[in-house]
Amino acid sequence: MKDIHVKVASGEYDVKVGAGLLDDIGSVARASVGGRQAFLVSDSHVMPLYGRRAQASLEQAEYVVSTVTVEAGEAHKSMKSLTGLLEQMASSGLTRDDVVVALGGGMIGDLAGFAAAVYMRGCAVIQIPTSLLAMVDSSVGGKTAVDLDAGKNLAGAFWQPAAVVADTACLRTVSANLLEDSCGEIIKYGVMRDPELFSSLERQPFGISDPHRVEAVVSRCIKLKRDVVAADERESGIREQLNLGHTIGHAIEAEKNYAWGHGSCVAAGLVCMAWADAALGICEPETAQRIETVVAAHGLPTDTSIPINRLYGRSLSDKKRHGSEMRLVEIHAIGDVHVKQVPLESWRRILKLGCNRSKPGK
Ligand SMILES: NC(=O)c1ccc[n+]([C@@H]2O[C@H](COP(=O)([O-])OP(=O)(O)OC[C@H]3O[C@@H](n4cnc5c(N)ncnc54)[C@H](O)[C@@H]3O)[C@@H](O)[C@H]2O)c1
Ligand SMILES: [Zn+2]
Repeated sequence: MKDIHVKVASGEYDVKVGAGLLDDIGSVARASVGGRQAFLVSDSHVMPLYGRRAQASLEQAEYVVSTVTVEAGEAHKSMKSLTGLLEQMASSGLTRDDVVVALGGGMIGDLAGFAAAVYMRGCAVIQIPTSLLAMVDSSVGGKTAVDLDAGKNLAGAFWQPAAVVADTACLRTVSANLLEDSCGEIIKYGVMRDPELFSSLERQPFGISDPHRVEAVVSRCIKLKRDVVAADERESGIREQLNLGHTIGHAIEAEKNYAWGHGSCVAAGLVCMAWADAALGICEPETAQRIETVVAAHGLPTDTSIPINRLYGRSLSDKKRHGSEMRLVEIHAIGDVHVKQVPLESWRRILKLGCNRSKPGK
């Protein structure tokens, strides 16, 4: 079991990573929050798989447990679900001294985290991520949100959890497609800050057959995210590095009508940025080739058939656009990236260079 301490301006908490930790969430909640009631939120896929064990652990720690199941799927990360949760919290008599337990993937983490952030102006939440993406990314860092009709994550709050418990054994029931997709974010962490992690992915693509490797890789990613978030809780500086591959990734997601997973789109975006940076002499062509090879080895897309002007058009509504400029994460080498703001004309050129795959030196 790995224990990672997160310290940000607004508080500190521990992230536990290991197989079988689901049975410990009651004692973690007791030690980190206390209170009388636990409000356990999960989705319609995860609750039948792990709800009983989570509830039993909470009851063993002498909590009175209310359980709520939200329909699975991003469509339910909505204001309607949020209102439903808040009403149920109130009718179950939850107080500010009690604890919300978010058991599920990033969708439940964001939704229940946001409900906890606003219920009685803030109630403690414990994140129990069950998907790979939620373990390596969304459960740590304190971003919570729901989607609006106008776009994803448009209503939300920064609300740090009181504790995070990642039971890596839960990954065994995640679909192979979803596991593969989330590897896009793991590769991103390697490119962003960790040449050693990247090399290990080159030697052997990530998979869940070896529990030691799963624990090592998940906790490595959490540490990388922790370091970035600790330095910049509210994304005004270094935290922007986490957006590596995401500007193009989000444009691909929208163009593909969300039929491609987020991690797959980020992976394709990463490859595109890498080749653009190689064409501009910012990184070596070999670096771009290594990134493309790792992405492909994980079964993720290295290319899209989307015309550049469509990607460019989509990217204009990205939150990383600042007026007539775009903020990008440039790849200088594996483990060495820099945030840079460029005029939109240069951004269009970068997209062209990356997506048209001019591979210098090849
Ligand atoms: N807050 C943040 O910092 C942050 C960062 C990245 C992504 N996100 C958000 O996270 C969400 C995506 O996360 P996700 O990929 O986990 O999506 P998700 O929560 O929708 O989970 C994907 C699917 O996997 C199922 N699932 C989860 N764990 C399972 C398990 N152990 N066994 C079987 N099925 C399981 C879910 O029921 C769902 O059907 C998006 O809403 C995104 O906006 C938030
Ligand atoms: Zn992402």
